[in-house]
This record gives sequence, C-alpha cells and structure tokens, in this order.
Amino acid sequence: SSNIRLAVIPGDGIGTEVVAEGLKVLDAAGIKAETVEYDLGAKRYHTSGETLPDGVLEELRGFDAILLGAVGDPSVPPGVLERELLLRLRFELDHYVNLRPVKLFPGVSTPLGGIRPEDIDMIVVREGTEGPYAGAGGVMRRGTSQEIATQESLNTAFGVERVVRYAFEKAQTRPRRKLTLVHKTNVLTYAGDLWARTVDRISVEYPEVATDYCHVDAASMFFVNQPQRFDVIVTDNLFGDILTDIGAAVAGGIGLAASGNVNPSKTAPSMFEPVHGSAPDIAGQGKADPTATILSVAMLLDHVGFADAAARVEQAVAADLAGREALGSVRQTREIGDDIAGRVAG
Ligand code: NAD
Ligand code: IPM
Ligand code: MN
Repeated sequence: SSNIRLAVIPGDGIGTEVVAEGLKVLDAAGIKAETVEYDLGAKRYHTSGETLPDGVLEELRGFDAILLGAVGDPSVPPGVLERELLLRLRFELDHYVNLRPVKLFPGVSTPLGGIRPEDIDMIVVREGTEGPYAGAGGVMRRGTSQEIATQESLNTAFGVERVVRYAFEKAQTRPRRKLTLVHKTNVLTYAGDLWARTVDRISVEYPEVATDYCHVDAASMFFVNQPQRFDVIVTDNLFGDILTDIGAAVAGGIGLAASGNVNPSKTAPSMFEPVHGSAPDIAGQGKADPTATILSVAMLLDHVGFADAAARVEQAVAADLAGREALGSVRQTREIGDDIAGRVAG
C-alpha cells in the first residue's frame, strides 16, 4: 500500500532531470508514493497542441500533491506554457500562497560579505492567484506605431486578506515573529492601499507579531545589504516573483531555491516546484543542481503530514551542502541526487 498519491509533471528542459532526483530522494525517505507522471510541456504542445487538457486538470484534483519540474521552452512562444499550463494550475487549484523560503545553509557561499547563515532566514509569502498575473488587460492597434498594451493588476479584498492572514499565522510560529509587507504604496496607490489597510486590520488579531512595511525597491536593496531585516514577508504575485530570485541569489544560487504553491484550505492538491525554470542553456547536460527540487520535496512531505521524513530530507541536504566546498569537484545532477538520497536512507 502507498502512503501518498503523487502527480508528477517533469515538464521541460532541466525539469525532467531534477524531478528524477527528487523522486529518488522521496523513495530513500521510505515514502511509498503511488506516482502518475503527466507528459505536459513543450513536447505535448508540439504533438497535439494541448497545454493542459480539462480531463488532466480534473484528474490532478484527485492527488494528495503535485511535484513539478519546470515548464517553458525556446521553441514555444513565451507565455503559452507559462500561462496555459503553470499559471492555470496555480489558479484552478487555488494555490493562493506561493511559499518561498530564503535560507542560507551553513557552508554555502553567498555573494554578500560578512553574512552568517542566521542572517538569511526568511520566508516569502507570495500571493499566487491575483496581481498582474491575473491576465487582465489587452492590446489595441497591435503592430502599429499607435499600439497600446495594458496589463492590469487584480487585487481583491478576499484574495489579499486570505494571504495576509496566512502570513500572520506563519509569522506567529517563528521565533522573531516579524511580518513585513512589501509593496509600492507610493505609486500603486489603489492596490497598495488595499494591501496596507488589510495588514493593519488583521494585525490587531496578532498582537505578538511585529509588522513593518517596505517599498519593493528598497526591499530589493535590503535583500542584498541587510537580509537580517526580514523574517516573514508578504507580497504581491509579481514582487514576490522578482524578490525570490534575488533571495535565491543571495542564499547560494537558484539551484537551491525551493517553493510550494499551497492551497491552505486543502480544497485541491498543493504543488511543489523549484523556483528556477527549465534552464534551456544547460538542459540535457547533467549540470542542473537538483537541490531546489529535493528541498521542494521536503516541503511537499511536510505539507502532506510527513514532518519527520521532511526533516530528514532537509537535514540530508544540509549535510550535503556543508560538504560541498571541501569536495572540490563539480558533481553531475544524478550524483548530487545519489549522495543526498544516500544520506536520507542513512
Ligand atoms: P531559469 O531559472 O530557467 O534560468 C536562469 C539561469 O539559472 C540560467 O543560466 C540557468 O542555467 C540557471 N539555472 C536554473 N536552474 C538551475 C539549476 N537547478 N542548477 C544550475 N543552474 C540553474 O530562468 P530563465 O532562463 O529566465 O527561463 C527559462 C525558461 O523557464 C523560460 O521559458 C521561463 O518562462 C521558464 N520558467 C519556468 C519556471 C517554472 O516552471 N516554475 C520558472 C522560471 C522560469
Ligand atoms: C516562477 C516563474 C513563473 C512565475 C513563470 C514561469 C510563470 O518565474 O515560478 O517563479 O512568474 O511565477
Ligand atoms: Mn520566477
């Protein structure tokens, strides 16, 4: 019998390479997963024109969780797979929390000077179903010199409140109990005002949590010169996207950054994936670091109720990372997966 039913979408480019290592580690953790693989991505699009068939979406609702590699390929126009596959999954499965830890593990080198691991330990709670990602807007007179393109940001009281509430709950469980709203209230006055008022209003229910506010431009600077400022961050979909790539860079690289697209009410399965993309520049060469995907598997395990297994995977990754500098040599994707799986198995 199996412990979990898991849908796997390896996707494009290095997605397939890193997902294989994630599954290897899941197995080493003693989790018997009944996995069903879905061949969604560039290849399916080219052979059948399909991105996410309705039947597949309905099937996916029946799983305990989804593991995704990455989607996007230079042979497909930008936005097709990203919007019709990845974002459609996040929207349809109501992944309103995009949870992205930014954490510097001991032994990992950071481009920042004088920074210790305890200085970079935050969680970005990125809104996942609204903002500029909603797809509102349009184009007039396309291709002419009078072209007008609009791309609106959708912010609902309902959508903002639920993600802000989640962020307060998260902040309350952490030692520093600090929540920072990141936005651009000085320019995006309608949306920023809704976000700021929502944080203010909910903060009354969480007197132990200290709240503060940072404009996104300043926050980008503080990620680099004062990452200690941040504990839990709550922010809009697009700001969260950009900030978490900066976060990845300061915490050891994009190959280490994990994420979860979480549906906290559990009305549909949550989906776990590395923060990075399909990396066409290194795809097929065994050069991709699978660590981000393996840490995403740890987040998945935690979400579906296997906290012990999740902790063992994270500890195995920490041990592997601590030894990397001394190793001297560069390992292939599969070798990193083997080494971490070996540590998990004990
Ligand atoms: P990317 O994250 O794929 O790559 C950026 C850089 O980081 C590249 O130089 C790449 O080689 C490197 N990199 C990424 N992951 C790595 C890993 N695991 N190990 C080592 N190096 C790694 O971003 P991009 O180049 O902007 O986008 C490529 C494609 O991926 C696009 O089609 C984009 O839309 C898509 N994308 C998908 C996702 C996703 O599926 N969640 C996320 C980001 C980008
Ligand atoms: C990410 C990616 C996606 C996003 C793209 C591919 C739609 O950059 O997961 O960070 O912008 O959310
Ligand atoms: Mn991104």
